[in-house]
Amino acid sequence: MQTATPLFEAKDIARSFGGLLAVSELSFEIREREVLGLIGPNGAGKSTTFNLISGFYTPTRGRLFIDGADATGMSPERISRKGLVRTFQHGSLMRSMSVADNILIGTLGALPRAERAERVRETAGLFGLQGRLDEIAGILPHGLQRLVSIAIAFASRPRILCLDEPLTGLNQTEVAATLDVFERIRDEFGSSVLLVEHNMKAVMQVCDRIVVLHHGRMLATGTPDEIRRDPRVIEAYLGANHGH
Ligand SMILES: Nc1ncnc2c1ncn2[C@@H]1O[C@H](COP(=O)(O)OP(=O)(O)OP(=O)(O)O)[C@@H](O)[C@H]1O
Ligand SMILES: [Mg+2]
Repeated sequence: MQTATPLFEAKDIARSFGGLLAVSELSFEIREREVLGLIGPNGAGKSTTFNLISGFYTPTRGRLFIDGADATGMSPERISRKGLVRTFQHGSLMRSMSVADNILIGTLGALPRAERAERVRETAGLFGLQGRLDEIAGILPHGLQRLVSIAIAFASRPRILCLDEPLTGLNQTEVAATLDVFERIRDEFGSSVLLVEHNMKAVMQVCDRIVVLHHGRMLATGTPDEIRRDPRVIEAYLGANHGH
């Protein structure tokens, strides 16, 4: 059977920093309508991979494809216009602005002016922020600030939403609510989510597939059940004196 062209594909990518190979011989794809987890012990190359696929780093070798078209070396702006949008680990919100204005920023360039207000409302509703639109983002509780930064990124309705440790510092209730949003992004909007995350329980719960990195290479890939049982994965985590 002919398989569909993946939304995103990395083929044999590598990135070195001086003499250090942070990522090498890495190939994987992001499919339509999936939550894909990218995990691995500290220093495994997750953030480097994240920066490579979002255009913040250029691969030292290998190629990236979006919808089958070569996207290697494209700027982050071009990549986001092609539908792959990322968040930053330490949030990307404007602290002195309202929640509504923050989400509005995410729609600029993606939508005609007349459609933006409705998009802000719809996005706020998705993230449970409808009652907070007029509040100043910077004084919201930490968990809500994290939701606002994801809401900004999803306001343009990217086909792939890439999230760098979005669950850090969230309590159990907030984690559950955020995982729920990821499922709705997939099921109701048909987008895909790439999740770089240390919260293993959450990853196992929400991901359709997982890619495990170790020493910059792919150690394993599969469903949460396959990954959970994989002796190489267990060994890598135990051997790495994993601190999270
Ligand atoms: N800009 C850089 N310059 C030099 N070395 C780097 C740079 N970025 C990453 N590295 C190195 O590349 C390797 C992979 O780092 P990376 O940050 O991608 O790992 P990670 O999986 O995100 O780790 P963590 O779980 O701690 O966030 C590490 O050895 C790191 O020190
Ligand atoms: Mg990292």
